[in-house]
Amino acid sequence: MAVLVTGGAGYIGSHTAVVLHEAGRDVVVLDDLSNSSVAAVEALRALTRPDLPFIRADAADVDAVGRAIVDHGVDEVVHFAAFKSVSGSIADPDGYHRNNVGSTVGVVEAMRRNGVSRIVFSSSCTVYGEPTSLPVTEDSPISASNPYGATKVACEELLAAEADAGGLDVLLLRYFNPVGAHSSGDLGEDPRGTPDNLVPYLMQVAVGRRESLSVFGDDYDTPDGSAIRDYIHVVDLAEGHLAALDVLAGSDDEDVRDPSVGSTGCRAVNLGTGAGHSVLEVLAAAGRVIGRPVPHEVVGRRDGDIERIWADPSLAADLLGWRATRGLDEMLADHWRWQQRHPDGYGTG
Ligand code: UD1
Repeated sequence: MAVLVTGGAGYIGSHTAVVLHEAGRDVVVLDDLSNSSVAAVEALRALTRPDLPFIRADAADVDAVGRAIVDHGVDEVVHFAAFKSVSGSIADPDGYHRNNVGSTVGVVEAMRRNGVSRIVFSSSCTVYGEPTSLPVTEDSPISASNPYGATKVACEELLAAEADAGGLDVLLLRYFNPVGAHSSGDLGEDPRGTPDNLVPYLMQVAVGRRESLSVFGDDYDTPDGSAIRDYIHVVDLAEGHLAALDVLAGSDDEDVRDPSVGSTGCRAVNLGTGAGHSVLEVLAAAGRVIGRPVPHEVVGRRDGDIERIWADPSLAADLLGWRATRGLDEMLADHWRWQQRHPDGYGTG
């Protein structure tokens, strides 16, 4: 029996593949490499096994996903494969829907054809938009504020409907802001082109690839005026997927579950730390970890940004028995190790 990880060559997918492998799962990676690389697959194989099965295919390709399921005896799926840039989604909304919703449709169809029911889905706190109260719980209102977020809402709704129809057991994991890298420094985030996200940009400044970080706004209604997010170590996030798969597998256990009942349903779960940090706090922590200040300048707010968000992570603790254990300094230290060892991402080092 094996777990199929779509998008397993990407940032969160590759870290999750390592954690699942270390926990004794047989991991099969499927990725079209549209936003990752063969070098990322090699790095993953170096940390797991040299013959880790890798299939280069689009997750929207039902036949390719179906073949992966049959050939490797897949009985559970973690579905990451998606585009993830908010600005990219504003520029290309139909492309984002075709890719993100299309890949989820493809994976679901391939699972149904082959009798696989358990799926963990890569969702995002972006589904909450600008929260009306904090911390956000899974019952907070859903309100996507950009096309990327809209694709995540659409995929969540599709998976929930499939579960209602009795075919799937689903956990929707809503990530807050992933940061960090594998402790080896040999697996990490490798954005193509100019990074959209705070920590990858900041690290490229620190390593000398870019001149200065733009801090998007210091006039928010927050203690230091900069926006607040719940940053979570990517390995904590990866461990959340392992916990989610274990819960789905447990609910499939005949001792726990009445086999006459079809799907056990669909639940959304926040994966965050529960702590918010401002952009200026992240910059200060990065300066401490790196050993020198990171050049930056305050500019205007970025369109579409929200002011503040952080998770209520208590459902993850109750349902998955999981909580984040790594703090901001550890995330930044690990990210910095990766950036130093691979200043140009997987292209060098
Ligand atoms: C957004 C999405 C998140 C998605 C992620 C993927 C929301 C609420 N969040 O995260 O779901 O997974 O994109 O790309 O929609 N910042 C700077 N300078 C920079 C870059 C960022 O000051 O050069 C600031 C931002 O204004 C923000 C914070 O840093 O306040 C974090 O930004 P970023 O890392 O881009 O993540 P989000 O926008 O929170």
